[in-house]
Amino acid sequence: MLGLAALVAGAVAGAVWGLGIAACGLAGMVALHVQNLRALKRWVQSPVETPIPSGRGVWETVFAALHRFSRELSRERRSLAEALQRFRNAGEAMPDAVVMLDAGHHIEWCNAAGQTYFGLDGERDKGALVFNLIRQPEFAAYLAADRSGQALLLKSDRGGGLLISVQLIPYGDQEKLLIGQDVTEFERVATVRRDFVANVSHEIKTPLTVISGFIETIQTTGPAPQQLERYLSLMAEQAHNMQRLVEDLLVLSALENESNSVAGEPVAIAPLMNALLRDAQSLSGGRHDIQLEVQAPGAILGSEIELRSAFGNLISNAIRYTAQGGKVGIRWQMTDGAGLFSVEDSGIGIPAEHIPRLTERFYRVDRSRSRATGGTGLGLAIVRHVLLRHDATLNIDSEPGRGSRFTLKFPATRMVAVVPPPEHQLQLAASR
Ligand SMILES: Nc1ncnc2c1ncn2[C@@H]1O[C@H](COP(=O)(O)OP(=O)(O)OP(=O)(O)O)[C@@H](O)[C@H]1O
Ligand SMILES: [Mg+2]
Repeated sequence: MLGLAALVAGAVAGAVWGLGIAACGLAGMVALHVQNLRALKRWVQSPVETPIPSGRGVWETVFAALHRFSRELSRERRSLAEALQRFRNAGEAMPDAVVMLDAGHHIEWCNAAGQTYFGLDGERDKGALVFNLIRQPEFAAYLAADRSGQALLLKSDRGGGLLISVQLIPYGDQEKLLIGQDVTEFERVATVRRDFVANVSHEIKTPLTVISGFIETIQTTGPAPQQLERYLSLMAEQAHNMQRLVEDLLVLSALENESNSVAGEPVAIAPLMNALLRDAQSLSGGRHDIQLEVQAPGAILGSEIELRSAFGNLISNAIRYTAQGGKVGIRWQMTDGAGLFSVEDSGIGIPAEHIPRLTERFYRVDRSRSRATGGTGLGLAIVRHVLLRHDATLNIDSEPGRGSRFTLKFPATRMVAVVPPPEHQLQLAASR
């Protein structure tokens, strides 16, 4: 266009005019390009989200192409950011600890469980060396040995003494994921199980050794009539101990399987207390002064068999750990709607340091004394489970040499003030 105009002007008005017009046209074009280039430069130097300027002439096409390209980039950036956020949300939702490490073991990111288990701070500890924050020597050794894939058991000192199973998983370009799983409860159960098997084996070993010892003696020396009777009675005693142990274990395992609280039926207090007194008197054989006091009899909502077993355990302990001539007091009373059952004795008492552990399975203050009186060490463990199932609590007061008092407290919600009439009890019994 511009060339044609210059040629026409040159032909009509002379070469000077033609050249002049061509020069003016060129200057205009240069000015247009410079203006568009400036706009482009300004845009390039401005923040990422600044809209692209609208160009003129050929620049319109260039800017339109740039605009498309920039829109595409923004979309990709958004979808990448969304994917990253989704990944982080998933990481946060994980119950296990996740810590992302770079090739040099610097922390890049960690989720909420990572912060709890290892005591890390997602923001503050970003870029820190992980072994400066998880400081157990075995962890540093684990990182150095690069035993990726294998788990390490770590007692977390900053995470409230949790037991964490830690695993390092390599990914990407020498980066690593540190995964931590809370195995505190799992390890506790495993320890309880190991202790339990060891205890049961130990408890059964003693009577079995005695019995097999006598059998061997009889086999080698032949039955000596004067000894035989004594051997047989000792063997019977040991067999009886084993039988008691197995029975108690069965009761305990049944109670543990039924871990929910019992709905129960009203169990009348007065007849239960009288039955317990009779059992106590026969166990004592007249060697103790046993008193029963029942204030405000009513009923407990619960299982009669379980309650009788728990109360009976406490009474039999009081008798067994109280010397001849000692006193045993059994009492039922109500305070503020709650029911209190207590057994008090003037026996050997229990040193304070043992009291918190008495309800553990097989825990005895004096093993030989308990065994000598036929104890399995499971009585109070059974009591504890029965109480759990009846929403009740146990309190132990004791002083060595002076005696002990075991008190069971049943909440008001478990108490029935009036005993149901006998016909109702019969109906309940029939519907069971
Ligand atoms: N009234 C008490 N006086 C003194 N010590 C007691 C009394 N009651 C319990 N103990 C101590 O608590 C321990 C645990 O009691 P628990 O009833 O669980 O077991 P046990 O009496 O030895 O055996 P089991 O009751 O299974 O026959 C006993 O071995 C004993 O040392
Ligand atoms: Mg006992």
